[in-house]
Amino acid sequence: MDLEREYLLQNYARYPLVLARGKGCYAYDLEGRRYLDFITGIGVNALGHAHPRIVKVIREQAALLLHSSNLYYHQYQGPLAKRLSAMSGLQRAFFCNTGTEAMEGGLKMVHAHGRAISPEKYEVISLENSFHGRTFGALSITGQAKYRQDFEPLVPGARFIPLNDLEALEAAFSDRTAGIVLEMIQGEGGINPLTPQFVAKARELADRFNALLVADETQCGVGRPGTYFAYQRTNHVILPDVMVTAKPLACGIPLGVIMANEKAASAIKPGMHGSTFGGGPLACRVALEFCDILDELLPQIQRVGGYLHVQLNELARKHSFVKEVRGFGLMIGVDLHIPGKQLVLDAMAEGLLINCTHDTVLRFLPPYIVTEREVDQAVKILAKLFGKVK
Ligand SMILES: Cc1ncc(COP(=O)(O)O)c(C=O)c1O
Repeated sequence: MDLEREYLLQNYARYPLVLARGKGCYAYDLEGRRYLDFITGIGVNALGHAHPRIVKVIREQAALLLHSSNLYYHQYQGPLAKRLSAMSGLQRAFFCNTGTEAMEGGLKMVHAHGRAISPEKYEVISLENSFHGRTFGALSITGQAKYRQDFEPLVPGARFIPLNDLEALEAAFSDRTAGIVLEMIQGEGGINPLTPQFVAKARELADRFNALLVADETQCGVGRPGTYFAYQRTNHVILPDVMVTAKPLACGIPLGVIMANEKAASAIKPGMHGSTFGGGPLACRVALEFCDILDELLPQIQRVGGYLHVQLNELARKHSFVKEVRGFGLMIGVDLHIPGKQLVLDAMAEGLLINCTHDTVLRFLPPYIVTEREVDQAVKILAKLFGKVK
């Protein structure tokens, strides 16, 4: 901690906890103290810690080939692209390393699509309260001024509208619109789901104005909502043209992906985009193993996610400082009338890891292997802490 204070950029406000190892749903600090991990490195450790099948493929692949660059083929990028294509309903993949990088590539696709039609077609609609990453493009469409204000001017053309506001959506579209970017369930913005009507209208308007609909599934995707992707949650699935995601894909090895239909993918011609590390053999092999395990876990995510939601709702009913419980599957927010930070610290002291987003929303992103037993444990701790709130 002292060394970090002296030698690191002081951009993070870390919790006073040094994690040393993990097993299943639990993480352990240097002294061996156990924590029930219901935040999973902000949705990355989706299979918990040290999953035996993931450990096995990492060990095997580390001894074979860690990196090849995109100068050459390796055995795993093609099969992973095929797998993600089947899961997403979108034909083509581009692999990178992080969420913001995937968003950046998705935005290049949107801008190239627009520019091919007209030099004036460069507007990108996104939502207030959204979060799309920290690089310049992704930041320019992030609908929270606190992240943008120190870096302006950013990429021009961003237009922000309120969540689920059909009139504002309709008014924002024009022939200048190149794309619209949506998180189907806003993560950093406080676990706010979009209504199916809003998404349907966005699809209709994107088609009418020849703009690309981009789903940012970095936080709400890859199994977390109980379906592969959050846009598949409704009976009538509305396909985006582009989907970007990252976090849990390779269980802690950095891997991001852009999935695109043929129309969107055709905007990127040879030489227009690339990555040195993106889609390396280690990350792709781990992701293929993760996809196999995810298929087995989807019913459990739905069942245990539903159970967690019900338990949190019961707790909420007993405490007037709880405004609302929101979310789907294993992505749940408990919105409070009071700041959540102290509750997060108190939970940590009781052996439960969660975090707070948007000041008042306690965020739960448990691992997909979680069972009712761990949910009961977490809710018991929360009940004790909620009972002490004055
Ligand atoms: C919806 C969304 N998009 C993009 C990002 C950025 O991802 P990364 O931190 O991997 O760059 C995040 C990170 O939390 C996110 O939640």
